[in-house]
Amino acid sequence: MNFKLKISDNYIFSRTNLQIQNRTVLAAMTNMQSHDDGTLSDDEITWLLERAKGGFGIITTAATNVSKEGKAWNGEFGVFEDYQIPQLKNLTSLIHETKSIVIAQLFHGGMKSPQKITGSVPISASKLDCSESNTGKTKPASHNDIKKIIDDFKNSALMCYESGFDGIELHGAHGYLISQFLGKKTNLRKDEWGGDLKNRSKLLIEIFNSIRNNVPDDFIIGVRISPEIDSIGIELKDTIELVGILKKMNLDFIHISCWDVFAKSKSLKNNNRTLTEVITQSYTDLPTIISTGSVWSSSDAHKLLRQGADLVGVGRVAIGHPNWANKVSSLDYNPKRPPYSISRLSRAKLNPQFINYMKNWKGFVE
Ligand SMILES: Cc1cc2nc3c(=O)[nH]c(=O)nc-3n(C[C@H](O)[C@H](O)[C@H](O)COP(=O)(O)O)c2cc1C
Repeated sequence: MNFKLKISDNYIFSRTNLQIQNRTVLAAMTNMQSHDDGTLSDDEITWLLERAKGGFGIITTAATNVSKEGKAWNGEFGVFEDYQIPQLKNLTSLIHETKSIVIAQLFHGGMKSPQKITGSVPISASKLDCSESNTGKTKPASHNDIKKIIDDFKNSALMCYESGFDGIELHGAHGYLISQFLGKKTNLRKDEWGGDLKNRSKLLIEIFNSIRNNVPDDFIIGVRISPEIDSIGIELKDTIELVGILKKMNLDFIHISCWDVFAKSKSLKNNNRTLTEVITQSYTDLPTIISTGSVWSSSDAHKLLRQGADLVGVGRVAIGHPNWANKVSSLDYNPKRPPYSISRLSRAKLNPQFINYMKNWKGFVE
């Protein structure tokens, strides 16, 4: 444990030597601001750029679908067609005029991709009950489907590289397709893509390898995971094993999505440690660890660094405070919490659709 780490210190990714200006990360946040054909909108670019100007080390985009079938929300931008490239390039070149780096979060919604949006039956690891499907069930992925999914992630990552992104984050958290393969309750397969954790993580590993083998060496690749999701059967002990598998790969970061970085694990008995502590204390020589969830003040951010995280991710506080990253270096910084007024959110560069979406987050909008 290093008591001297400061959120404002710069940070160097060890594999690539890429330096970032501080230890802050804007975590991926879906914001509904883009166009129906998956083209990134000027509004979504403006929202991200404002946070880059606000000093974040890493700007992560919202989850972006790697194929038409993987889309989960209206207003989501995609990275799967050539016509989407000019706006992606626009985003990366504007962000690179600041000191931030920019990473795209690639994902496929699986059973959370509604048929009414994609036009196709949602796909998952197994045949599962699914309210997003017209048939009430998901389609279990065939071997050809799995091959296509891996190719889609690879092509999308290549498009990100060509569009000037510094790297990508594979979204293996929050119950989307990759985590549906990881989860014991959603992956009931009897073939090599299901069974023990090694097989359940094969989709994630194959996606990672196919990207790593096709992009230049200095392109950053990270994975976001949820340590525990009871509803789909993701358990902390499996997550610890997964981190051990990921650690042996040529991966740049693991992003732990905790929702509350100060909460203790729900599943470990007699446990007094947080999820970040449990994971970082399980191994030496881990890749960069980003951890996110309920960090608000400078004191919170420094406590998280002391838990063992290398980089501190934030979501909600950066919606209300685009300059959070610049201000958090002051040790007494403790920005106002929600609710926020509509006019304030609009000054913080959220468009009306995004503000409307934030009304679903209890107590966020005045
Ligand atoms: C509006 C909103 C949209 C989100 N969208 C995503 C997303 O696209 N991908 C993702 O991995 N997490 C998403 N999250 C989760 C955040 O990245 C973050 O982990 C979570 O908000 C907890 O951090 P916080 O307490 O700092 O907000 C979203 C959160 C919010 C508030």
